[in-house]
Amino acid sequence: LTVAEREHSVRAKTAGSLERYQRSQRALAGGVSTALRRSARPYPLFFDHGKGSQITDVDGNRYVDYCLAWGPLILGHAPAEVSAAIAAQLERGYTYGAQHQLEYEVAEMLQQIIPCADLVCYANSGTEIVQVALRLARAVTGRRRFIKFEGHYHGWDDSVLVSYKPSLEQMQTGGSQPVPAGLGHRGSPDALIARWNDRESVEQLFAQHPGEIASLICEPMLCNSGCISPEPGFLALLREITTANGTALIFDEVITGFRLSLHGGQGYYGVTPDLATFAKAAGGGMPLSVLAGAEEFMQFIAQGKAIHAGTLNGNPIALTAAKATLAILGRDNGVVYERLWSRGERLRQGLEQIVHGRNVPVTTSGGGPVFQLSFMDRPARHYGDTLLADMRRYSDFGLALLDEGIMILPDGRWYTSVAHSEADIDATLAAAERAASVLE
Ligand SMILES: Cc1ncc(COP(=O)(O)O)c(C=O)c1O
Repeated sequence: LTVAEREHSVRAKTAGSLERYQRSQRALAGGVSTALRRSARPYPLFFDHGKGSQITDVDGNRYVDYCLAWGPLILGHAPAEVSAAIAAQLERGYTYGAQHQLEYEVAEMLQQIIPCADLVCYANSGTEIVQVALRLARAVTGRRRFIKFEGHYHGWDDSVLVSYKPSLEQMQTGGSQPVPAGLGHRGSPDALIARWNDRESVEQLFAQHPGEIASLICEPMLCNSGCISPEPGFLALLREITTANGTALIFDEVITGFRLSLHGGQGYYGVTPDLATFAKAAGGGMPLSVLAGAEEFMQFIAQGKAIHAGTLNGNPIALTAAKATLAILGRDNGVVYERLWSRGERLRQGLEQIVHGRNVPVTTSGGGPVFQLSFMDRPARHYGDTLLADMRRYSDFGLALLDEGIMILPDGRWYTSVAHSEADIDATLAAAERAASVLE
């Protein structure tokens, strides 16, 4: 089938979604709740329910889901054990605005599994918790500036929405590239931009700004731009240079957390930061984020020297979901990770072979629980390399997969869950084989 035929087929079976999208746009700005969802082809679909690895739209079409709500659903949709726990808590109240025992029970579980977690605190989203981490680093060091890397995403706050997805042209002009002021963005003078896997770019910033840098923040695997692993020794360099300069090392584990391993990216790579942020999988689909950190930093929150607040922080519904999710992930020493990795890796390698078989340039990166499929001929080392990928062709492939009952994210990232079975992987690879005809 051609791309046009695929599009026609998807449109024909998703009329209910289109009708709802049109209605929604008349009341909800843009008809979607977050800007990124608008890019869906042929239009954003509307969903009725999800269970395990599958999600079903309002027209009754069922898809094997590799979006997984953009990452949180590490156990798949509505796992029975978590749903039952949430249902029981619903009877006891949704939020107290006061202390309850789930707060320390989940904190104790997090202390056990996160290497840098002497203490933790909670918020509701990744965006918020990154701000807590940056503030804490400023408070402890008495400095303002921070280093981030090109292409790394740390939420939508002005301070960090810098050099997120710069164009080739913007990158050539150098410096930090904020979202244009016309979009409401207030540029941050405090952000310094380095290049992933480029030691010199980091060393240079420390040399140019001695005694000025409060923190260095990164995704331990660059999941938001191509699932690019740190090269051997790169995270260790970040650890060394931050320690030497009295700068806080922050790992943003919103994606890598409880996905690469039960111990996050820091456990997976064996480098312990001063502070680490978690969200997505931490709440298993409920709004929860976590800051975990070393005692000397977290004491600033404990003693009220750095402000951390939020009406819904630590609410019992989100913490119930976290407790049940972490219990499943940690059972029998985290045995579920073997399954998550082996099935995800079979999928990653299978997809790469299928595309390769059509003589289309292809590369994959990352690993079983979260990986990237890119239509380009060599792996990326840093964000700039990812601009070479053929995104139009990838989008066509995604549309053909949707027609085959496989749902993927628009940017090339694939999430897998504990709920994805060997049969799901087989069905997905067979569907990909058929969908690949649009690549030629
Ligand atoms: C690494 C990283 N940090 C922070 C965020 C922001 O999290 P949230 O969307 O929960 O605000 C995201 C979201 O995708 C992320 O991937």
